[in-house]
Amino acid sequence: MEKTTKKLRVGVIGCGRISVMHLTSLSVIEAVELVACCDVIKERAEAAAEEYGGRAYVSYEEMIEAEDLDAVHICLPHYLHSKVACYALERGVNVLTEKPMDVDLASAEAAVKTAKEKGLLFGVIFQCRYNNSAKLVKEALDSGRLGKILSARSVLTWARPDSYYAESDWKGTWDKEGGGVIIDQAIHSIDLVNWLVNSEIEEVCCSMANRGHKTVDVEDSAEGLITYKNGVKYGFYCMNNYGYDEPIEIRLYCEKGKVVFGYDDAYISYNNGQTEEAHQDKVLLDYKNGKDYWGFQHVKQIRQFYNAVLGKEPLEISGEEALKTHRLIMQLYALGKAQMH
Ligand SMILES: NC(=O)c1ccc[n+]([C@@H]2O[C@H](COP(=O)([O-])OP(=O)(O)OC[C@H]3O[C@@H](n4cnc5c(N)ncnc54)[C@H](O)[C@@H]3O)[C@@H](O)[C@H]2O)c1
Repeated sequence: MEKTTKKLRVGVIGCGRISVMHLTSLSVIEAVELVACCDVIKERAEAAAEEYGGRAYVSYEEMIEAEDLDAVHICLPHYLHSKVACYALERGVNVLTEKPMDVDLASAEAAVKTAKEKGLLFGVIFQCRYNNSAKLVKEALDSGRLGKILSARSVLTWARPDSYYAESDWKGTWDKEGGGVIIDQAIHSIDLVNWLVNSEIEEVCCSMANRGHKTVDVEDSAEGLITYKNGVKYGFYCMNNYGYDEPIEIRLYCEKGKVVFGYDDAYISYNNGQTEEAHQDKVLLDYKNGKDYWGFQHVKQIRQFYNAVLGKEPLEISGEEALKTHRLIMQLYALGKAQMH
């Protein structure tokens, strides 16, 4: 007789734009069963439940009360992330939240503390770390092939016109989104560099401005320099007034070579003349109306999270790990926002 293993019971909170990446990923992960979809907009919860499975809820409190969940995915506006994470964790439910951790530091730290006290897993989505490009660069650094990073820089020039902000009741607001181009778009490239440099921060400089958006107050342009305790200087530039989403570019100048990489490709030229490269996999899942610029690595990170829930491996991007980037992002805002007003 075939052995039946009980599947992990999962709920998704927030059935807006990004939810399709979570719902599609869950549909191919054997160990889990989607049992509930929640959105304050009832039609969204119902549409997700009908297409991907589970019961529809308009209240996450009711969903958590009723469904005996093993985990929830938080796909909500930024200012709700930690509040909802703490609510679930306090009731014994593991949490995987979308980036960023929140709009401030104290709330993010509270969620990490709650997970620790409850002995539960709290994961934060930074799916770009699972790109083949980023994985090659990380491995080349960890193995010593590249030596130490000496300097780093990242550039992001994307398009988020006023119409993008007009479609949302929370994007483009300081209180609900927590910022603009840094916290929403450049957060991934800043996270990649911060993860690869892997050192404490000595000093942060940042300038930000709203140069091209008439309908929102948050920054649409920012640049800065981050100096790490290991001596690395990392300069970044980002803006979302460009005409389209130009592939991001990160450059690392290392002891034994140079790296140029983005979400799709990585090229390493070693000082000894050797080269290495990595390229993105073909997209194997149909993410329906998922956007190219989100990348297609959610499934890898979500699978890793459930392997950790099942005790097969440690959680890779835990709340503690994600706090390293969240602290940096909050430092950038503390400096940049003060100049804007
Ligand atoms: N990892 C990535 O690359 C990536 C890409 C896009 C968005 N995101 C993140 O995903 C999150 C959601 O972004 P989005 O673009 O899907 O936003 P969205 O506005 O499209 O979706 C949010 C949904 O949450 C619902 N909601 C709001 N308050 C609620 C509540 N109290 N209870 C239940 N539902 C509630 C809204 O009705 C909406 O459907 C954000 O954190 C965003 O930064 C991540």
